[in-house]
Amino acid sequence: MEGLDSGLKFMPREDWDTTEQFLAVSDQKHVEKKPYRRIRLVIGLALGAGLLALLIGLLVWGFHSNQDVQVKKVYIGSVGISGKPFLPEYEDPSSLQFKKLANQVDKELRRMYSENPVLDKYFTRCSVQAFSDGDGGPDSILAYYESEFELPASQEASLNEAIQSLEPSAGSQHAQRGRQIQRPTESLTLRSVSSQALDLRLSRTNITEKVPINLHVKNKNKIDSPGFPDSTYPPNTSQKWSLRAEQGHRVRLDFHTLFLEDDCEKDFIQIYDSLLPIESQLLTEQCGYPHGSLSYVSSGNVMLVLLVTNSEKNFPGFRAYYSQIPANTAECGGKLLGERGNFSSSLFPVNYPPKAVCTWEIQVPQDKFVKVEFKKFEVGKDGATCVGDYVEIEDQRLCGNRLESNVFTSESNKMTIRFQSDTSLVYQGFTAYYEAFIPTNPCPGKFKCSNNMCIISDRKCDGYNDCGDNSDEINCKCDVTQMMCKNNLCKSKAWKCDGVDDCGDNSDEEGCECKKEQFSCRNGRCIAEDLKCNGKNDCGDGSDESKCEKSLMLKCSATTYRCKNGRCISKANPECDGQTDCSDGSDEENCNCGRREYQSSRIIGGQASRKGEWPWQVSLHARGQGHTCGASVLNDCWLLTAAHCVQDEYAEANQWEAFLGLHVQGQTNEWTVTRRIKRIIPHEDYNTLSFDNDIALMELDSSVTLNQYIWPICLPPSSDDFPAGQEAWITGWGAMVEGGSSAKILQKAMVRIINHTTCKNLLQDDVTDRMLCAGILDGGVDACQGDSGGPLTVTNPSGRVFVAGLVSWGQGCAQRNKPGVYTRMTKFRSWIKERSGV
Ligand code: ARG
Repeated sequence: MEGLDSGLKFMPREDWDTTEQFLAVSDQKHVEKKPYRRIRLVIGLALGAGLLALLIGLLVWGFHSNQDVQVKKVYIGSVGISGKPFLPEYEDPSSLQFKKLANQVDKELRRMYSENPVLDKYFTRCSVQAFSDGDGGPDSILAYYESEFELPASQEASLNEAIQSLEPSAGSQHAQRGRQIQRPTESLTLRSVSSQALDLRLSRTNITEKVPINLHVKNKNKIDSPGFPDSTYPPNTSQKWSLRAEQGHRVRLDFHTLFLEDDCEKDFIQIYDSLLPIESQLLTEQCGYPHGSLSYVSSGNVMLVLLVTNSEKNFPGFRAYYSQIPANTAECGGKLLGERGNFSSSLFPVNYPPKAVCTWEIQVPQDKFVKVEFKKFEVGKDGATCVGDYVEIEDQRLCGNRLESNVFTSESNKMTIRFQSDTSLVYQGFTAYYEAFIPTNPCPGKFKCSNNMCIISDRKCDGYNDCGDNSDEINCKCDVTQMMCKNNLCKSKAWKCDGVDDCGDNSDEEGCECKKEQFSCRNGRCIAEDLKCNGKNDCGDGSDESKCEKSLMLKCSATTYRCKNGRCISKANPECDGQTDCSDGSDEENCNCGRREYQSSRIIGGQASRKGEWPWQVSLHARGQGHTCGASVLNDCWLLTAAHCVQDEYAEANQWEAFLGLHVQGQTNEWTVTRRIKRIIPHEDYNTLSFDNDIALMELDSSVTLNQYIWPICLPPSSDDFPAGQEAWITGWGAMVEGGSSAKILQKAMVRIINHTTCKNLLQDDVTDRMLCAGILDGGVDACQGDSGGPLTVTNPSGRVFVAGLVSWGQGCAQRNKPGVYTRMTKFRSWIKERSGV
């Protein structure tokens, strides 16, 4: 259509001045006076139509012939050779031995292709690219080759089919499906041919392919992406690294840093269990800023790393350490004869290698049965059908990363568990605990859940889903501290009307203060629902006009946002949300904060954070004591921490040292910066007893350079609101269990903002308006000793991170119904401005 359209518009223009031409048609007189113009017009039109017809013809012809245009297709593959030992010379493509063997393989491949009419017809050339030790014992070799075919585009499908017909049928991957070819002088046994068309992203025409790097993995060393760490990687580049371990070893690769563009169609890194990028041997593809385990192990003694970048957006890239491990260290399985014990997939927490097969045989005393509980489970892609990678218990196959139930029991004193991985895509695997139990009394002194878990009896009917399947919370009689939900569950009365659906059917949040058709204002008032967002401040605190589609000018109040020009707007949390709300644009003016350079694209598992994930996090070391408190970066000179961190003998600025851009305590890296403190400004109204006003500022003795590892967090304006139930993250090197020692790697945890009234009831302590509660009421997640002063962060819809609170105090750590208490940052916006200018 486009072609047709532009043809009409442009053709006549070559002959005429368009204005004249179109006037001529409607203006009779004009035409009469100048008859030659009509002739020109007729000729022109005829010419135009002719050209148009030609164009259409060309297009149609082009379209048809396109289908039969000759195309080049390149397949890469590997072929096993048995009955021949691997010689060191095979590593060197210029050696005589290499050439000789390559020649033989070449001949065999040609012969194989000649047996198939399609392959025979279109084959143009093949070349052997590399050899490695084979996986069929000591006398086997793998040859990696590239074959090229030239064919009419319409024949592509049949070529693909023909190529696939060479491969061993699914399921017989490991089987020796060889054929013996007898020659007077030489014999070559080829087995398990596999080939595939090249990834389209690799054939981007503008990509510069760098000379591949071949490395021996005997000693641990590192590979860096081009430019790392001084500059970002170059655009439109592809780089391969081939890694070879010694015979009888596997290659292990551990990423130290991995930061790529977030779109795998654009920039990506791939790791292969092969020397060529053969898809069926792809162990992983990564881009962006991945969170999971980034350690990989090969099945044989080779590995290939491939980095491909496109023209836009270049990132720092990666650094990875390679090493070799004896092949048998990756083995797993065996007999487990104790009454209890742990077992895990190969090399856990390193990703399991491909082609793993392990069997555990658990046997406990005669009169007992076996129970297995999976602690961590990531086997194969989520939602897969459990054919490639899986765990098998008796006849049940498990895979993915969400198990319906993580407890399994036997009906005898024996249990067999199998784990298997296929040739591609590896994951972290699993850890499991098993124990023997007496069948008649499976949970001695404990409550038995429907899913066979055993939980402490006190936890039955306590309002928490301890079993995981809610079986401890059904058929309960609610006690005096509990309310009955509509679905008959019992939940703590303290949770009624706290803004969180605790019942699961929201019945604990019904009938809260305001009637159903009413809107409940932040100040507790109830107004008719239809007064919401009508442009008038009906609540009196503006809360009925916040969270409206459009922001409105309002009379200023505590809940309205004040623009620089003194005007106030109603929108909730408008600062740095990516939309200009103030007429003077001031709400988007100071937004050089709270952005992570590298967004994560995957779901977070585990608690250790990745480098650069929390660039505002600071570790404060007190002289002679190491890490003592956390803090946040406000700009290149100022830090924010808790007042209780800098009291008494800790009040002197000169005894503090701040570590910025730190990830692991005791391991400063190329991005870590340390600074002494010039000045500490604790809040003058800090109360040592109640922890009220628990906030302090620290000025660095000299400014730091901001970069992706050291970056300011956003301060919320006083009108910002973080409602109960909102997700928030805490970070720090504090204790990982109550009374425990502090963490080495920066930890992160997700908590939720907790309703203020609920919090006061739960803690029965003085929780002031300058405090904010957050936690997980089930327990188990919280800040603890050593996290103090660090941030409680929330992310706004545009992805900017704000500090909503500072870790201040708590009753114990991570206990049930004992949320953590944080300094409420919205109360201190002007104080910070006055004291530091930030
Ligand atoms: N005061 C503690 C510190 O100095 C922080 C306690 C936080 N406790 C809690 N349960 N959230 O590190």
